[in-house]
Amino acid sequence: MSRPKARPVKRIAFAVAGAGAIAACVSMVLATSATAATTLGASAAEKGRYFGAAVAANKLSDTAYTTILNREFNSVTPENEMKIDATEPNQNQFNYTNADRIVSHARSRGMQVRGHTLAWHSQQPGWMQNMSGSALRSAMLNHVTQVTTHFRGQVVAWDVVNEAFADGSSGARRDSNLQRTGNDWIEAAFRAARAADPNAKLCYNDYNTDDWTHAKTQAVYNMVRDFKSRGVPIDCVGLQSHFNSGSPYPSNYRTTLSNFAALGVDVQITELDIEGSGTTQANTYRNVVNDCLAVARCNGITVWGIRDTDSWRASGTPLLFDGSGNKKPAYEAVLSALNTGNPTTPPPTTPGNTTPPPTTPPPTTPPPGGAGCSATVSVNQWTGGFVATVRVTAGSSTLTGWTVSLTLPGGATITNAWNANRSGNSGAVSFTNVSYNGSVAAGQSTEFGFQANGTGSGLTPTCTAR
Ligand code: XIL
Repeated sequence: MSRPKARPVKRIAFAVAGAGAIAACVSMVLATSATAATTLGASAAEKGRYFGAAVAANKLSDTAYTTILNREFNSVTPENEMKIDATEPNQNQFNYTNADRIVSHARSRGMQVRGHTLAWHSQQPGWMQNMSGSALRSAMLNHVTQVTTHFRGQVVAWDVVNEAFADGSSGARRDSNLQRTGNDWIEAAFRAARAADPNAKLCYNDYNTDDWTHAKTQAVYNMVRDFKSRGVPIDCVGLQSHFNSGSPYPSNYRTTLSNFAALGVDVQITELDIEGSGTTQANTYRNVVNDCLAVARCNGITVWGIRDTDSWRASGTPLLFDGSGNKKPAYEAVLSALNTGNPTTPPPTTPGNTTPPPTTPPPTTPPPGGAGCSATVSVNQWTGGFVATVRVTAGSSTLTGWTVSLTLPGGATITNAWNANRSGNSGAVSFTNVSYNGSVAAGQSTEFGFQANGTGSGLTPTCTAR
């Protein structure tokens, strides 16, 4: 995520300044660059992560709200506008008006979008609530296909299925009309989403899956492990993480994050809110951020709203800004944890994890001939822009770091990159690994991506080991 641009007034002052003033400006810039980031998004980006908020379309006209949104966050999740009742209010009549407003607000400011959610027992339109069996199964798959197709290239990660497991000690699936179409409804939804948008990350999202010892957490873990072993397309697990006295932040949260990550999926904290106030609330927020930073594949955090008054649980004052938009102690704790945290800390060992690690499936790409590395790119183009996903594959020996270079066609400008450090944004550009994806075993692969304006035709990446 790029840093905020210098304000025009400063650029003008610079242009008319004399040599002495230029020297002063340069030293000021140097001093600034050595200082900690001052917003959540910029600080998270320095750690190779995003920091997002749930956004409501009807608040985009509230300038106090958008001032905070635009300043602090580099990822957005529509709070309700992509849900089934919003996007398909009548069967086969799709309405994307409010979702598109949020997407365009976010993307025009360089923020990424998480899509939420495609298949869920809740917030179904009336017509779907009344369906069952194979008719419902096809309607659900059609919904997944239509919505992911509409947002292809605009949504980086989808909560494909939301809240499919029961609370309590059963570890069973939640009963719902979707569940009654057959136990394979979840994998069917993931397959449909992958087919319609091969470049979006596909997540399973749930709540009360934070405590490693809970049956629900174990049940989701076992499903993800099963999906990975059978090749069902899943890329990430979302932990909603709505914390309050009935559902407190668990001391083994980091273990949960790292155990999911060890299955070979990204882990995202998707709907964070923590009821409380003052130092107690701030400390819990700090713990959550530190836990995410400690797990390499915990690649982003989204808070479920901006100001306390925007929260679905407003009475619990669970967010980072008060109703007047002031930063709370929880905000300061999150920012300082992001700034001081060390994301290279290896994931903790997981005592109590009695589940054997999954077997690693053989690489699908044969290792290229020599040592070194190779790179391939896939481009998802839309009118005016594209997302490129670059796959780096190690040669016959383990990589400890890599650089990928490529030349963009004239007029193409990168706005945003993830899972790599970027140098340059037009013409000849290069990317190097970040802390958590430099090490790639022989024949194995890792991916990074970038988004750009313009056309992404004819990209030819080259990879060198470093
Ligand atoms: C909530 C929204 O915040 C509310 O505005 C809406 O009335 C109900 O849904 N888990 C989820 C979210 O996955 O979609 C829910 O959002 C909160 C719980």
